[in-house]
Amino acid sequence: MDPFRRRLNSRKAIFPQVLPYFILIFIILVLAIIKDGLHNEKFNSHLSKLENQSSSGSSHLTKAVHYYNTVFQRLMDEGFLLPSSKALCIESISGHDVMALRNIGVIDAFGISEAALRASEHGLNHDPFHNNTFDFEFFGHSSWFDWSVHPSETIAQICRTLKAGGYLVVHIAVNDEYTYNSFINLFTCFTLKASRDIKFKEFALPSLHEFVLKKANKHSSPSQLESSDKCKVPKYKRDLINDLEPLVMEEPQDSWSWDGLGKNADGIQYLSSMVDLRYKERHIYVDLGARNYDSSIGSWFEKQYPKQNKTFEVYAFEADKSFYGEYEGKKGVKLMPYAAWVRNETLSFEIDREPDNVGLQWAEMGRIQPKQLSTEDRENIDKVYRVEALDLADWLIRTFSKRDFVVMKMDIEGSEFDLMNRLVESGAFCLIDELFLECHYDRWIKCCSGEKTNRHKRSYAQCMNLYAKLRKDGCFVHQWW
Ligand SMILES: *[C@@H]1O[C@H](CO)[C@@H](O)[C@H](O)[C@H]1NC(C)=O
Ligand SMILES: *[C@@H]1O[C@H](CO)[C@@H](O)[C@H](O)[C@H]1NC(C)=O
Ligand SMILES: *[C@@H]1O[C@H](CO)[C@@H](O)[C@H](O)[C@H]1NC(C)=O
Ligand SMILES: *[C@@H]1O[C@H](CO)[C@@H](O)[C@H](O)[C@H]1NC(C)=O
Repeated sequence: MDPFRRRLNSRKAIFPQVLPYFILIFIILVLAIIKDGLHNEKFNSHLSKLENQSSSGSSHLTKAVHYYNTVFQRLMDEGFLLPSSKALCIESISGHDVMALRNIGVIDAFGISEAALRASEHGLNHDPFHNNTFDFEFFGHSSWFDWSVHPSETIAQICRTLKAGGYLVVHIAVNDEYTYNSFINLFTCFTLKASRDIKFKEFALPSLHEFVLKKANKHSSPSQLESSDKCKVPKYKRDLINDLEPLVMEEPQDSWSWDGLGKNADGIQYLSSMVDLRYKERHIYVDLGARNYDSSIGSWFEKQYPKQNKTFEVYAFEADKSFYGEYEGKKGVKLMPYAAWVRNETLSFEIDREPDNVGLQWAEMGRIQPKQLSTEDRENIDKVYRVEALDLADWLIRTFSKRDFVVMKMDIEGSEFDLMNRLVESGAFCLIDELFLECHYDRWIKCCSGEKTNRHKRSYAQCMNLYAKLRKDGCFVHQWW
């Protein structure tokens, strides 16, 4: 056999072997095309059904389309939208917005559910939502209000699918500046181009607010504070501080009867009863000096703090190992085995065994005044307790952003003066939305006896000064007992 024929023969033999693969690839291609087609066909038939209904005089539908016509026409007049724009309407369940876009000549417009957009990043290759695809995206559906997921996930997908320089238009209801700012802070890769109430005379609709956002060319810097940043507290936050319950200026006459007063007081103006937490990315409770789970997390925060149905992540700072067992298996609670302090270091304390204080309580140990170890101490090491302390300001800045809602309780046995100083200086206090601060002062042992406990160096007046200064600095702080 000549070589040529032999080659031909072997080719004959290979062909039947590869044929199934060709068929398989062919089937996959056909399926992908059909799936895409179905998607568009379903959407188109939905639209044409609506168009049929509207032209047959369903006044609700014509009104809705007319409304969106007005919205988009204005955006087009202002240059945010062009007939040639590739446009996407998110959560376009009724399709009215897409119809309106096509009506005013934006032919390349279609809709998607929010969930589908969020999932699009992990989609298949035929997924039409590639990076930098759209010139214009619109989110006008009220479902924005009911998001259970983190809005930032959807915003990240909007940012990804918009072209650089493309516009996002969002309609939501905002009634106060706090909500307005929480909302706008979520859009990290955008700059705000226009912000206005939309109210058209011809439509009796509740007033919404329209935000026009432009995708920045570069990812704008993360909104985390630089440690050198002094944060500025805006006026709307200061106004909220003015509505706080007044401080108790009169020193309590009795050492112990005031214990737990804060937790039970009805007069507390919780921030979360005054503002909307919907547009905050994460909801956080940081308990400094957490002790038992039930000492404040279980007994007060979980039961009494108003949470607007949000799930809060809890961080429990506790340096005393004897409490750690309590936190095992507690869902949503992260134990931070540290004392909150102004820098990272190991602190040593002398154990103060008072004769009547049998079950040595960590809180009784004057835990913040670190002790220089003398030779005698080293020999007598069981009298000295060492704990790991953490730079709280640094941790806050690394862990949270101003997009989060952070509630903090601070009960740290006297070190609050140093720590608050550091938090204010570093700007980290701006990440704390609401603070419940127990200030430790030298109390009366018993009413009118003239005797003080002599456990803390500060006076009641110094505590009052601390609270007043913090409120003046822009900290939403409650007096805690
Ligand atoms: C819309 O109406 C046209 C004729 O008026 C009809 O041919 C078409 O089937 C209708 N479409 C739907 C989805 O009902
Ligand atoms: C698309 O954008 C995302 C997020 O910006 C990025 O992580 C990803 O690498 C991009 N994909 C392509 C194919 O460029
Ligand atoms: C919280 O959820 C409950 C039931 O799921 C609901 O009845 C209540 O109105 C919600 N409260 C808020 C503030 O959203
Ligand atoms: C402090 O300690 C924490 C926990 O070990 C660490 O993550 C952080 O980087 C340290 N901070 C500084 C400023 O060294």
